[in-house]
Amino acid sequence: MSQIKLQNITKTYQVGEDALVAVQDVSLDIQSGDFISIVGHSGSGKTTLLSMIGGITTPTSGRISFEDTDLSAMGSDGLSEYRCRKIGFMFQFASLLPMLTVKENLLLPTMFVPEPERTYASKLDDKAAELLRSVGLLDKINAFPGQLSGGQQRRVAIARSFMNNPKLILADEPTGDLDEKTEQEMINFFKAMNRTEGITFVMVTHNSELARQTQRRLKMHQGSLQTLPSGE
Ligand SMILES: Nc1ncnc2c1ncn2[C@@H]1O[C@H](COP(=O)(O)OP(=O)(O)O)[C@@H](O)[C@H]1O
Ligand SMILES: [Mg+2]
Repeated sequence: MSQIKLQNITKTYQVGEDALVAVQDVSLDIQSGDFISIVGHSGSGKTTLLSMIGGITTPTSGRISFEDTDLSAMGSDGLSEYRCRKIGFMFQFASLLPMLTVKENLLLPTMFVPEPERTYASKLDDKAAELLRSVGLLDKINAFPGQLSGGQQRRVAIARSFMNNPKLILADEPTGDLDEKTEQEMINFFKAMNRTEGITFVMVTHNSELARQTQRRLKMHQGSLQTLPSGE
């Protein structure tokens, strides 16, 4: 069973009189534990594709299923549960809430998990600390976002996406604003989470050097998805 299956996905945006085809007839099987990179020019449909996989945007046509359940059959409560419990999002523009500390920002996504399933608060604190240590920012746990550099805020947002033990990380240029060394450290962290926790990664990147390090390489071109040869 595929973890995620996309069958003939098309997304059309109506812009005034015109229909803009952002994603065209994309089919893709993602297996649990895959590490996929997606490259492609700006405007080629990468973000739209990720947001459909994440249940944020509804396709115009085609089917998306997660572990054999059709996203369109989940209903709005089911979809929020899916987004909250199964998916970790790293958005293109990492946004932390400025009036919450780093730790509170990490705990925020856990608030949306239903009470009986929420882990004890102390365990969540431990998890937040452990993730911050992994991204090298444990010493900033009580800082406010405004006291951090852009790159540090980005790393906090990266840590936050793992808080609910996601099965799949959808990452939209997650390291674009980091220096080369920190970027590689984050990729190494992703690889470790992929290997040890079995978390699936679908990562959009502009960095072909990073894409080369991934197991499956895809390219979006004008809304269509192409497979790139590995190790190119
Ligand atoms: N909400 C929207 N409404 C209208 N057009 C959109 C919307 N989101 C994206 N688009 C258009 O769809 C195309 C693909 O965008 P996007 O998925 O953001 O590409 P990428 O992430 O590869 O830069 C672009 O032409 C963009 O302008
Ligand atoms: Mg984008």
